[in-house]
Amino acid sequence: MTALRQFEPQDLLRMNLTNLDPLTENYNIDFYLHYLITWPSLFTIAEDQHGNIIGYMMGKVEEDPLWVKFTPHYLPWHGHVTALTVAPQSRRLGLARLLTAALERGCEEQKAWFVDLFVREGNETAVNLYKGMGYSIFRRVLDYYSDDPTGRKSGEDAFDMRKPLGRDKKRQHIRKNGGNYTVLPEDIYHG
Ligand SMILES: CC(C)(COP(=O)(O)OP(=O)(O)OC[C@H]1O[C@@H](n2cnc3c(N)ncnc32)[C@H](O)[C@@H]1OP(=O)(O)O)[C@@H](O)C(=O)NCCC(=O)NCCS
Repeated sequence: MTALRQFEPQDLLRMNLTNLDPLTENYNIDFYLHYLITWPSLFTIAEDQHGNIIGYMMGKVEEDPLWVKFTPHYLPWHGHVTALTVAPQSRRLGLARLLTAALERGCEEQKAWFVDLFVREGNETAVNLYKGMGYSIFRRVLDYYSDDPTGRKSGEDAFDMRKPLGRDKKRQHIRKNGGNYTVLPEDIYHG
């Protein structure tokens, strides 16, 4: 049996099953704690019947600051997937879909316009997951990742994918053929 619950600080010492994966980002401890303190309801853990952490979603809601407002890249109030991972032995059971749906519900409650995320162009599994859940490519960020896990290139593009939420009734925050709309990493504001 798998249960979803809110992240707790002691979970930081129990992330081996998920975080040894090469496509799972690892951050400093203060980064995880910042998410816990600021957006506790958007940091969800999936635990198996033995209490092992077999997946998690770390997300947030935010808006770009005013000084970015008058640039073409300004982001209004929106939800963001910062990290989503499922342990290899627990994949393809629908866990990622459950965790993503939980984040979307939280963002709906907070009246966000959309949920967005960055994913490696070559991460077909994740791109398939998000497309299947109604996300589409909004823009391509050239060489967003400085490495390429396949070792073929020195860097890798990111797809910035979005799913509009209930507030975006006119679907004004998504773009058709966004894969052809390219931006540079410096065009993305990192608050
Ligand atoms: C991407 C990841 C989170 C998916 O987790 P998961 O729990 O296995 O995904 P789900 O079981 O919820 O699958 C949902 C959908 O994703 C897609 N998907 C999942 N695994 C897939 C695979 N191996 N190949 C193709 N599509 C896949 C399918 O569309 C699937 O729906 P279906 O099973 O009805 O066909 C997981 O593989 C992972 O942790 N990868 C490493 C970290 C990562 O890439 N995180 C995302 C960074 S943005």
